[in-house]
Formats: sequence, C-alpha cells, structure tokens
Amino acid sequence: MWVFHLLFLTLLSAVRAQEDLRGRSFVFPQEGVAHISLTSAQEEPLQNFTVCLRSFTNLLQDHALFSYATKEQERDIVIYKTYWRKDPQYVVYIGGEEVDFRVPDSFLMWKSICVTWESETGVITLGIGSYDLARRVVQKGYCIGPDAVIMLGEVAWRTSGGDAFSGEIKDVYMWNATIPMGDLRSTTWESLSPSPIINWRNLQYKIEGNVTLV
Ligand SMILES: *[C@@H]1O[C@H](CO)[C@@H](O)[C@H](O)[C@H]1NC(C)=O
Ligand SMILES: *[C@@H]1O[C@H](CO)[C@@H](O)[C@H](O)[C@H]1NC(C)=O
Ligand SMILES: *[C@@H]1O[C@H](CO)[C@@H](O)[C@H](O)[C@H]1NC(C)=O
Repeated sequence: MWVFHLLFLTLLSAVRAQEDLRGRSFVFPQEGVAHISLTSAQEEPLQNFTVCLRSFTNLLQDHALFSYATKEQERDIVIYKTYWRKDPQYVVYIGGEEVDFRVPDSFLMWKSICVTWESETGVITLGIGSYDLARRVVQKGYCIGPDAVIMLGEVAWRTSGGDAFSGEIKDVYMWNATIPMGDLRSTTWESLSPSPIINWRNLQYKIEGNVTLV
C-alpha cells in the first residue's frame, strides 16, 4: 500500500502537461509553497530575449513572477516585485545583475508585464501595461546560459516560500529575440514572430504545489 502510494506520487509529479492554455489562468494559493515549472524550446545560449506575462495579485509583499536559472547563474533572468523600499519596484536580474524600476502601485487589475533585453547594447526595457519605464543598460555583451530551470511564482534558488506569488498568472510568452514594445502592445502576443520559445498556446508545464489551473 505504502509502496504503491509512493509510486503513484512519483508518477504524478513526473507528469508534464503540454497544452493550449488560451483563456485559462494559473491560480496560486494564498499560503504555502507552489510554483509552475516551464520547459522552453531554447537549447542554445540567449543573446536577445523578450518575456511577457499577465499577473493579478493583491499581495503587498515581495514576490517572484518569473525565474530563469541556469547552471552558471541562478539569476540569469528574474522578474521580481519588491516592497521593501518606499515605493514598490520591479527588480529584474540579467546574468545576476540587478536593475530596479520604481513604479507607483495602481489599483487592482490584470497587469501586462514585458521585459526585453539585447546583449549587443545591453539595453533592457520594462513595459507595464501601456507604459515603458526608462530604458537601462545592463550586462552588455553577456550571454544567458542554456539548459534553464524556468519557474513562475517562485525563484529557482529558494523554493521554500518567503517570496512566493499569490494570485493569478496567465499569457506567458518568451521569445529568443528583442521584440519592440510597440509590437508587443499593438499585436496579440501569440501572433508575433519569431515563434515563441515559451508559448501559452502550446505550454509545456508542470504544477508543483497547490496551484490550480482554471
Ligand atoms: C530561436 O528559437 C527558434 C525556435 O525554437 C530556433 O529555431 C532558433 O534557432 C532560435 N534562435 C536563436 C538565435 O537562438
Ligand atoms: C541579437 O540582436 C542583435 C541586435 O539586433 C543582432 O545583431 C544579433 O544577431 C542577435 N543575436 C541573435 C543570436 O539572434
Ligand atoms: C491546498 O489548498 C486547499 C484549499 O485551499 C487546502 O485545503 C489544502 O490544505 C492545500 N494544500 C497544501 C499542501 O497546501
């Protein structure tokens, strides 16, 4: 009985789904440790990328949205929101280097969040809804490593709570190119080219913990 139970749990946790999540959303619990693991189509290192997602939360404490950890650098790409300074801010890591974007917290609604980065210039852009924050330069010439561990709702190096996300995340996309913010606003994400390496319409994911897909 015990062995069967263990086997079943192992099988269950090994299941990776791959499906079109159009119109659906991951609901993260208010308490407890939970995240979504994603698999990307990218096998080579990355020189340019764009990540977009939509989130909805009433958290007023630090939380992780997106984490892309590689063997060499656990913070190769991280999108994080912090509240420990006077104003809330988005913190983005590229190759372990931190860039802070201060934002006034708006009323409760779905937020579209996009980050683009280009190695050649090091230019990073953060777009929140219909606003771009002032562009910055970080890790010029750097290359994001291959074989990433990708997560929503927690960071790969600390999956024990503390910074866990609570609320909803949907429409997660990543491209291995720098897509102009104008295109990200004027076109549906699913129809942009090149074809995404993380694609909400054909998402390879695994639920870890108490996340519900609705
Ligand atoms: C981008 O991703 C596509 C699809 O996975 C792949 O064919 C292509 O080689 C990648 N390009 C770069 C520059 O990594
Ligand atoms: C990354 O972007 C730069 C500037 O647009 C381009 O010159 C370079 O070829 C791109 N690298 C890859 C691997 O696509
Ligand atoms: C998952 O969520 C349900 C409903 O809120 C709760 O009853 C249950 O204890 C949670 N399980 C874990 C492992 O957190």
